Amino acid sequence: MPKILIVANWKENLDKKEAEEWLEGYRKQEVEGKKQAIEVVICPPFPLIPLVLGYSKGLGLATGAQTISHFEKGAYTGEVSAEQLKSLGVKYVIVGHSELREHFGETNKQINQKIKLCLKYGLIPIVCVSEFNQIEAVRFSNFQPPGSNLKPPTSNLIIAYEPLFAIGSGQPDTPANAQKMALAIKKILGENVWVLYGGSVNSQNATSFLQEKDIHGLLIGGASLNPIEFSQIIQATYELH
Ligand code: PGA
Repeated sequence: MPKILIVANWKENLDKKEAEEWLEGYRKQEVEGKKQAIEVVICPPFPLIPLVLGYSKGLGLATGAQTISHFEKGAYTGEVSAEQLKSLGVKYVIVGHSELREHFGETNKQINQKIKLCLKYGLIPIVCVSEFNQIEAVRFSNFQPPGSNLKPPTSNLIIAYEPLFAIGSGQPDTPANAQKMALAIKKILGENVWVLYGGSVNSQNATSFLQEKDIHGLLIGGASLNPIEFSQIIQATYELH
């Protein structure tokens, strides 16, 4: 059972050819080892999901989406549903990323609906929070804190603490502060909820976050676009565990 989750968020980057090059580049790095200990998740843009799924088994990767529709199904042009993603073989969905709040006006209510749909269709939501009040989006989503006999990531929900100042800025939060936030989030949502850290993570600073007791993984944007840099993060994580 994995102990650590490393999630790549490609955002609106890479075309098909570049994504193929990325996947081949990652293969060449031969990041092998204790595969059991770490789950590596790639969240590409929607059109590249089938491509990543095609490589996922061979490369030991899980596949995630960057968002879903807050509507279950129907006349919602341009949207992609939880059910559709599940039917493809997607395992995780990033929900509530601050860039959707900022550029698309996503609200706590919509985030709450997305969490419910993920849980309904057996997808694991990775819910991004940058402030405490955003935890409300999680609290009212029928989310049941997993029983104490369950060990992550059988937890059906993951939180990614991503402070706004750290995203894409090259200025990460301190590991000590990220740990404080992770602990506070667990106090609210339950001991067995996994908390990831995200915001300017790279191969130099990744392990400093993973050494904190309540941080169970990383959500990585910019540094995930280069397969060599990303592999170095995975390798460093293997060496920790
Ligand atoms: P970053 O992005 O690693 O480029 O800071 C993280 C994120 O937005 O999830």
